[in-house]
Formats: sequence, C-alpha cells, structure tokens
Amino acid sequence: MKRFMLICFAAFWSSVVSIWAYAVLATDGVADSVTEQRVISISPAELARHAGTDDCWMAIEGVVYDFTTYIPRHPAPPVVMTDWCGKDATQQYRTKGYGRPHSPAADALLPQYRVGVLEQSE
Ligand code: HEM
Repeated sequence: MKRFMLICFAAFWSSVVSIWAYAVLATDGVADSVTEQRVISISPAELARHAGTDDCWMAIEGVVYDFTTYIPRHPAPPVVMTDWCGKDATQQYRTKGYGRPHSPAADALLPQYRVGVLEQSE
C-alpha cells in the first residue's frame, strides 16, 4: 500500500511539472510569433520608389500593398490600376473611379499583398 501511495505521489507531481513546462514553452511560442509580426513602416518617399508596372506599390486606407503580381489578374484593364502605382489609391479603391465600392471579395484579396503601413506625414 505504501509503495502504491508513493507511485501515485510521483505520478501526480510529474504531471504537474509536465503541464507547467508545456505552459512555459507554449507562451514562448506566442511571444515569438508576436515579435515576428513587427509593423513595417513605409515612408511616402519609399512608396513613390515603387511606381512602375513591374514594381507597383499602393497605399489604401494607410496600408501599403505590392500589387505587381495582381495587376494582370485585375478584372479591369491594367491602366485603371497602374496610374496609381507609387501613390495613395484610397479614393480610387473606394470608388473604382466611378463612385462604386469594390465588393467584399475584392477586400478579401488585399491582405495577401500587404507589405506594411504608410508612415503618417507630420
Ligand atoms: C487604383 C485602384 C483600383 C481601381 C481604380 C480599380 C477599379 C476597378 C474597376 C474599374 C473595376 C471594373 C468595374 C467594376 O467591377 O465595377 C474593378 C473591378 C474589380 N477590382 Fe478593382 N480597382 C483598383 C484596385 C483593386 C485592387 C487593389 C483589388 C484587389 C486586390 C481589386 C479587385 C477588383 C475585383 C475583385 C473586381 C471585380 C468587381 C468587384 O469585386 O468589385 N481592385 N476595379
């Protein structure tokens, strides 16, 4: 009986230690992924350096996107977008150039092209 109690005691404390160790390691993992999501800040001058059809960045609602690979897939002719490479295209994206907003499906495409946030000029 004494031996059985000893085994139970050891099993209990080893599970406590395992749970504690797992919790500590899992928290480290979360901290790492938060560090990886650092905010990349892009100045208007840096944005303006990507103004070509073969290197096209745009800012929409304060977020900077690299649409170089999306331009050939866009449903409207490329020129509709390329005029805005290197610039803030918030109004053009909001209105499609004729007063109609893009669909939620279009909004859902944006995150994959995100490169950072636009530095606010003072
Ligand atoms: C300078 C920025 C942009 C302008 C001026 C613009 C303009 C237009 C125009 C004229 C059309 C076709 C007409 C229509 O469907 O009503 C269109 C459709 C569309 N655009 Fe854009 N676009 C821009 C950026 C973007 C971006 C960045 C995306 C996504 C990454 C996008 C996704 C789409 C999609 C999915 C459609 C199909 C209709 C819809 O879902 O709303 N566009 N856009």
